[in-house]
Amino acid sequence: MRCVAWTASLPANARTSPTLDGRGKFTVLEGDIRDLEVCKKATEGMDAVLHLAALGSVPRSIDDPLASEAANLGGFLNLLEACRHARIRRFVYASSSSVYGDSPASPKREGQEGKALSPYAVTKAMNEVYADLYHRLFVIESIGLRFFNVFGERQDPQGPYAAAIPRFVTSLLRHEPPEIHGDGHQTRDFTYVGNAVDAMLAGLRCTDERAFGHVFNIAYGQSTDLLQLIDRIKVELAKHDPEVAAVPVNHIADRPGDVRASLADIGRAHEILGYRPTFDLEAGLQRAVPWYLANWGA
Ligand SMILES: NC(=O)c1ccc[n+]([C@@H]2O[C@H](COP(=O)([O-])OP(=O)(O)OC[C@H]3O[C@@H](n4cnc5c(N)ncnc54)[C@H](O)[C@@H]3O)[C@@H](O)[C@H]2O)c1
Repeated sequence: MRCVAWTASLPANARTSPTLDGRGKFTVLEGDIRDLEVCKKATEGMDAVLHLAALGSVPRSIDDPLASEAANLGGFLNLLEACRHARIRRFVYASSSSVYGDSPASPKREGQEGKALSPYAVTKAMNEVYADLYHRLFVIESIGLRFFNVFGERQDPQGPYAAAIPRFVTSLLRHEPPEIHGDGHQTRDFTYVGNAVDAMLAGLRCTDERAFGHVFNIAYGQSTDLLQLIDRIKVELAKHDPEVAAVPVNHIADRPGDVRASLADIGRAHEILGYRPTFDLEAGLQRAVPWYLANWGA
């Protein structure tokens, strides 16, 4: 299968690496999905698209909704248009747990979405509407994956919009109190990146027609609050630096757009995509933390 994956930057050696099935090579094309011609060039002659490119971060989208809209919605529509013209069969894309918005339901189930809490969530919800429409109008087999708080090696800890786990790990490495918005009892379903990759591949291989035009929760299926998360990160770091156990946390103001509780029901992804997460939070941290020690430690 010829497939284009639109994603984060690949390391230089990936440019000549074999593909997952051991045949062929990666060809890296660097471009901006806000440019329709770039999308057309990338999809030409392909069978499938894995679409991950977006401006992440809820707070970034509140600061600059137009930038999020242009990349996450305009770029998404460009890519769907390119898929239509290139007669792409399969389109697997990243949606987000943020589409559950203010829904109090727990666990979150597909079909029980609440009102959006951020422009980022609006762009992801609209991605799902367009992907379903393009399935019904143009027979593109779209499959949306609602990722819940993905973490892992190589996630950037820097900048105002960095995700929680890389920020917490690198603060603790420096013995600086990690900053937590609010009381720290907000919960998340932290999902190791290896599970997210397995879900993308499950979407690519899926032959169950019930998947097409639909969206699926992708998570581990376990709820952890931020204070528990910090304790688990400390356990991993303390294997190398016992003093980290004594570093306190710094509670700062609540953040607009933040969801209080987030736990996924992954039953539909299991039933229809055959998705089964392999790594729980501990297993993920055991893989990710050594990478931060090697790359961000003293
Ligand atoms: N990480 C998470 O917790 C999480 C949770 C839910 C959904 N998602 C979604 O999963 C996908 C991947 O997330 P990630 O954490 O790897 O994010 P990331 O920020 O690490 O990667 C996104 C990539 O998209 C690229 N990009 C942004 N705008 C672009 C544009 N206009 N043209 C081309 N490339 C562009 C960025 O340069 C970056 O390399 C995103 O769609 C994100 O919204 C992530």
